[in-house]
Amino acid sequence: MHDDLLYNDPALASFYDVENEWMDDSERCFRMAEEARSVLDLGCGTGLLAVAMAEGGKRRVVGVDPAPAMLAIARAREGGGDATFIEADARTVRLEERFELITMTGHAFQCMLTREDRLALMKTIAAHLAEKGRFIFDSRNPAAEEWLEWNRDESERVIEHPEQGTFLAWNEASQDPATGIVTYETHYQNLIGTKHYQAKSRIAFPDKAELEALLKEAGLKAEQWLGDWSGEAWGPDMPEMVVIGGRG
Ligand SMILES: C[S@@+](CC[C@H](N)C(=O)[O-])C[C@H]1O[C@@H](n2cnc3c(N)ncnc32)[C@H](O)[C@@H]1O
Repeated sequence: MHDDLLYNDPALASFYDVENEWMDDSERCFRMAEEARSVLDLGCGTGLLAVAMAEGGKRRVVGVDPAPAMLAIARAREGGGDATFIEADARTVRLEERFELITMTGHAFQCMLTREDRLALMKTIAAHLAEKGRFIFDSRNPAAEEWLEWNRDESERVIEHPEQGTFLAWNEASQDPATGIVTYETHYQNLIGTKHYQAKSRIAFPDKAELEALLKEAGLKAEQWLGDWSGEAWGPDMPEMVVIGGRG
């Protein structure tokens, strides 16, 4: 995962904010952060949410991500100095600190490819959660098989890069039936055909039963399961699993 060019190549990382804006996940986490004095944002990426949650230094926000190219964008954004950004792996990072809110958004959780990785991540949450602290993260519902839409026909889009001009973007994906891991390609090709950036990424699609077992094993407790970030309750046909909880 640390060699995923999508997050580790500065050229590809520079497309992240063009494609990912403030959405329902940021809004819900931001509202939860308003109740907290400190926030840990795991897999913080380019720091859009982390910096917003810091509200100009109103609360302590620490963002953790292993990808230097993403963190460079986070630190350079307006207000980037209001949050603390640490280059580290969420599975193993140990800060001598506890937080009232721990967030992991944008399906960063799905970068944890094995059960062992996911358990390690949940143990990181448990090790950093304050007594009455809450955590929230998301993972796509495997039953919705969203990766089936990640083919060139359905995913092709035109995007405007602020410095590099107009690009055609598309994805291609396939699932390994043995592991459930989905490998997807991301392509950015400029319209004049002189640049073609591409990355191959791997993400996992664990099911709800596994997440429930892992939370328990890590000493965490789910209080609420949402089926999407707009706040709909979870159901087997919902696109997402958004879990909100605390210490077990
Ligand atoms: C899709 S981005 C999400 C970024 C951000 N949370 C957001 O919502 O915009 C996934 C992020 O997870 C990070 N990531 C991958 N493996 C990780 C790990 N082991 N620990 C922490 N972050 C990781 C990537 O570097 C990338 O920045």
